[in-house]
Amino acid sequence: MPKTAKSVLFVCLGNICRSPAAEGVFHRLVQQHGLGAQINVDSAGTAGYHVGKPADPRMLAAAARRGIELTSRARVVLPSDFQKFDLIVAMDQDNYNELSALTDDGPHPRLRLLSDYLDESWPRNVPDPYYGGSDGFEYVLDMLEAACPKILEAVVGGSKSPSP
Ligand code: 4NP
Repeated sequence: MPKTAKSVLFVCLGNICRSPAAEGVFHRLVQQHGLGAQINVDSAGTAGYHVGKPADPRMLAAAARRGIELTSRARVVLPSDFQKFDLIVAMDQDNYNELSALTDDGPHPRLRLLSDYLDESWPRNVPDPYYGGSDGFEYVLDMLEAACPKILEAVVGGSKSPSP
């Protein structure tokens, strides 16, 4: 692990379901590996509907059942986040497109889709659980728990633009 700190930002639409859960899953993994001092993690949304709110109670409960605490408060992603974070992970293609529109033309080297870190048995997009039932929240957590170890490997690998 290089001494320089690394930082990872997870982004969804509202920043109350998928990306706070990703932040919590990744943060726990970072702690389990003793990397809390070297790796910063945060989350944000492309829309501002829920700014300042904690994660959705259904996601808070689903994460808590897996021993994961979600502490985030919703915020909107900013163009300056592209300077602050080494890796920005979008939950779905819409989020990815919104993020791309915040930067100069061309695909940004530090922007990835979460499913870039998963095999093809998983869907390309992390499904938005907001309007669905409790199964959707469990599925999101399953997907995040599968991807986050790969993301950590990529970040610890030391590249400025971590590849899958
Ligand atoms: P998220 O889910 O993007 O995973 O946080 C959503 C939360 C809220 C809304 C949509 C998606 N909403 O329309 O309010």
